[in-house]
Amino acid sequence: MLNFTFQNPTKSHFGEDQIKMIATEIPANAKVLLVYGGGSIKQNGVYDQVVNALSEHTWFEFSGIEPNPKYDTLMKAQQLIKQHDVDYLLAVGGGSVVDGCKFIAAAALFNGDDPWDILAKQTPITAALPMGAVLTLPATGSESNGNSVVTRDGHKLPFSSPIVRPQFAVLDPKVTLSLSDRQISNGVIDAFVHTIEQYLTYSVNAKVQDRFAEGLLQTLIEEGPKALAAQSNEDLEVRANIMWSATMALNGLIGAGVPQDWSTHMIGHELTGGFGIDHARTRSIVLPAVMKVKRQEKREKLVQYAERVWQITDEDETVKIDKAIAKTEAFFKQMDVPTRLSDVNISEKDIDDLVSMLEQHGMVALGEHSDITLAVSKQILEKAL
Ligand code: NZQ
Ligand code: ZN
Repeated sequence: MLNFTFQNPTKSHFGEDQIKMIATEIPANAKVLLVYGGGSIKQNGVYDQVVNALSEHTWFEFSGIEPNPKYDTLMKAQQLIKQHDVDYLLAVGGGSVVDGCKFIAAAALFNGDDPWDILAKQTPITAALPMGAVLTLPATGSESNGNSVVTRDGHKLPFSSPIVRPQFAVLDPKVTLSLSDRQISNGVIDAFVHTIEQYLTYSVNAKVQDRFAEGLLQTLIEEGPKALAAQSNEDLEVRANIMWSATMALNGLIGAGVPQDWSTHMIGHELTGGFGIDHARTRSIVLPAVMKVKRQEKREKLVQYAERVWQITDEDETVKIDKAIAKTEAFFKQMDVPTRLSDVNISEKDIDDLVSMLEQHGMVALGEHSDITLAVSKQILEKAL
């Protein structure tokens, strides 16, 4: 196992009707900015629950954060913050709203010249407004980590800091019942790929992390299709299992002390930035190709994945790996997400542009061995055609 320091100070309130907990989590004298997206929270009752819970607080609101949150939109919140002396942010929504809120929090107290530097130059932040989150879409783990991804002019750039990790997160599986099938699928696939990216590298004999990861993968494989199929009360248990899996997939726990390979995500960001493909739908396209192109380097872990996650018992390791990759793709198809670039109308002629975007963003040495050069990323994209 590799050395690590693990701390996750986000307090999670999990379960039905837990939104009321924000009343006690946010300091009574705080001036709160409620931050949300395109309005789904007004249709599914979440907004009303939040407003009820904030009845004793002074609060303002900022809405309109779009999926893949835009820098220009987020910067508009700064004026409100200054005008009302806001000192606490509450994100209510999916990963885009929570990520967007983190950037708003960091930009509000940024002491450099231009908050864009937080993303473009990776200028470290030294302060941010405190924030909490009410999660409405289980997928990114953003409610319990310090990561944020912001888009400007087709450039999708991440930043990360423990300073923007939400102080608390409310996870009520009931609020996910209003998600469309597309968003359910996206969430399950995003969490699945996050888990794989912290697992499918090389063995460092980290048994706990491996078995946690395998448990999350198996849970998502079991529950994901049920969430698409069922519309009954039982669904709530399915949703609860998916919701906690997504949080655990990217709250730092399974990634502590193990090598990681975020190449699928970094290549996928260019597909979202350049072509507007949903975040998770880029991952379901790129991951199988990464598995195929890097199968030699990932051999040991691919065999473990085949045996423990998919219970593949063939003697021959090559067969085992082939079957595991095929089962992964079949699962993605069952979840109704694309597995090829051609499924989203991207062809060979687009690959050079994608590779030059990777270069522009410094993504020239990806993977657990930093050996996914631009040439290898090109191979991966070609394999995904
Ligand atoms: O904007 P509203 O009206 O809220 O609608 C949203 C949005 O249209 C809707 N939605 C959310 N909860 C709902 C709902 N509709 C009905 N009922 C509900 N309960 O779903 C749509 C998509 O929401 P979005 O927040 O964009 O989805 P997701 O949670 O998948 O977030 C994607 C973003 O997270 C970033 C991605 O890059 C992308 O920008 N990521 C953040 C990460 C992190 N912070 O660690 C890691 C991820 O890998 C990812 O990069
Ligand atoms: Zn993701």
